[in-house]
Amino acid sequence: MDYESADRDIVQLARRPDGQHAIVDYLHEHIAAYSWVGLYWVDGGDLVLGEWNGPEATEDTNIPIGTGVCGAAAASGRTEIVSDVSPDPRYLACFPSTKSEIVVPIFADGRVIGEIDIDGRALNAFGPADQRFLERIAGVLARLRATQPASRSNLR
Ligand code: SME
Repeated sequence: MDYESADRDIVQLARRPDGQHAIVDYLHEHIAAYSWVGLYWVDGGDLVLGEWNGPEATEDTNIPIGTGVCGAAAASGRTEIVSDVSPDPRYLACFPSTKSEIVVPIFADGRVIGEIDIDGRALNAFGPADQRFLERIAGVLARLRATQPASRSNLR
């Protein structure tokens, strides 16, 4: 995985009017380990699913902050890397194929406003390089969110 060239591609995609959508599609299509990619946005006490790309829709479109790995990352403001989801008591199972997960908070003005959630079909699919890469993308998405609040996911 060439993170530098992916960083450059993400900066270009962020210029598009459908930047959130384009970035989610890029992550899913260009990085084989990222089997399902979604954005959740904070709405009151919940995380609400926005753009996503993957083989299947998830039923977890509204997750209370504090519930699941997603809700834990939103509550703490820290990236969660779960190398094996099966023994993690917080894990909310969406897809039977998922073995590992990374959740990266998106911040604005020091507060969590959303997160990137990625599922992997392999154990240990995500490491520190993914964390650094996705935390940079979270910064891009925070800026985009300010200009592109609407999500197209409900049109799929
Ligand atoms: N597994 C997540 C729920 C979201 S799905 O992965 C799309 C969790 O434990 O919070």
